Amino acid sequence: MRRTRAILTVVTAGAVAAGGFLALSPAADAATTLGSAAAAKSRYFGTAVAAYKLGDATYAGILDREFTMVTAENEMKWDATEPTQNSFSYTSADTIVARARANGQRVRGHALAWHSQQPGWAQSLSGSALRSAMVNHITKVATHYRGQIYAWDVVNEAFADGSSGARRDSNLQQTGNDWIEVAFRTARAADPDAKLCYNDYNTDGVNAKSTAVYNMVKDFLARGVPIDCVGFQSHFNPASPLPADYQANLQRFADLGVEVQITELDIAGSGSAQADSYARVVRACLAVTRCAGITVWGIRDSDSWRASDTPLLFDGNGNPKAAYTSVLTAFGASGDPSASASASVSVSPSVSVSPSGGTAGCAATLSTNAWTGGFVTTVTVRAGAAPLTGWRVAVTLPTGAAVTNSWSSTASGSTGAVTFSNVNYNGSVAAGGSTSFGFQGTGSAPSGTPTCTAS
Ligand code: G3I
Repeated sequence: MRRTRAILTVVTAGAVAAGGFLALSPAADAATTLGSAAAAKSRYFGTAVAAYKLGDATYAGILDREFTMVTAENEMKWDATEPTQNSFSYTSADTIVARARANGQRVRGHALAWHSQQPGWAQSLSGSALRSAMVNHITKVATHYRGQIYAWDVVNEAFADGSSGARRDSNLQQTGNDWIEVAFRTARAADPDAKLCYNDYNTDGVNAKSTAVYNMVKDFLARGVPIDCVGFQSHFNPASPLPADYQANLQRFADLGVEVQITELDIAGSGSAQADSYARVVRACLAVTRCAGITVWGIRDSDSWRASDTPLLFDGNGNPKAAYTSVLTAFGASGDPSASASASVSVSPSVSVSPSGGTAGCAATLSTNAWTGGFVTTVTVRAGAAPLTGWRVAVTLPTGAAVTNSWSSTASGSTGAVTFSNVNYNGSVAAGGSTSFGFQGTGSAPSGTPTCTAS
């Protein structure tokens, strides 16, 4: 059972060089990105990433600002990583993984075994030769990324659509019904600390296909086949809308004891209808304790595998859509700096802004959600009367506490006095403006006054 989360309230301020923001609302800006809004609720918010787009400054800027989890859209698939049998090609996937980790983002591995996007040589194999090739592929790829992946989609889309509840007929299925459990056992041996997921589409509501997956997960758990999570792709459009029993379906899987993850979310449409559907997905995840996070399948509408459906949170120019704001609101945050943070993010009434606590130019406020043994802290950095070109925030952790993950900043150290510096896209802050970053840790949450220093 998940630990009961208590909300710890810590809001303090660091250096203030000039007046003009002593009246800072303590509730403002508690969470102003998708990632920080989700983190305030102990969830991640991720996106699919295409390696060839990382040179696009608009794309990369949104990626680094908004997301705390990354999935390679195509670069870890079998055809990409093993184009020739037993000859591996990791360049594009390595770029995505290294870049994500350098930015404090975690990575979902997608996808080790799948009937689609197999290299030609694998498509022509069958029987024990294909089974051996699959085991070798999983072993090599999961070993290459061992220790760097939050969760693997070990097996993708192995069940048939429709009412049969049967396995999909594929070359992998024809190697024997045990191919899925062999894939999971192989992945566990290669990357023992990663969560291992089964991932599929049209399993988002309670239906024959999702029930077949449910029964497989139940059977695996009963027989000790290693499985930790189930991914619900959640590609929605008028022909396949967000089901009314979405939350109930997530919950029934969670009740088996596995983590549930929304892995490839996109929702065709526009305006308030699209925004409302996105909000429903967020609320469903928040209502299911074991729902660890949400990944959208791309950044801008123009990046989508079905771009004409405009299914994502940013338009083709990289501007946030109504659906973006509605996701933040559903998480209890706001992208509008003048708006209040969620009532569910508790903020101490005893806000203090120290006029003498540091050297110059900025103030830092902490908002922390803590539970027994861990915490997530969101930090807002606000410029004083002059613009910032860079900043550093020093936080003192209690004895025994450690930072395990941070986003939108570079952490120096992980215990004791930890300094967080801006990354390239959030060092510049207009006078009176703000930016935010966050970190997650084990042990007791930090308290006291962080020092913000303009640099
Ligand atoms: O890179 C080549 C390019 O060189 C070539 O000119 C072009 C011509 O078609 O193809 C390009 O590759 C395409 C690739 O996307 C990169 O854009 C492939 O043809 C195309 O098939 C591939 O589509 C991907 C699709 O999976 C393949 O099944 C989509 O990008 C990707 O979003 C999609 O993702 C899947 C998930 O993995 C599993 N769940 C469903 C989801 C949506 O289909």
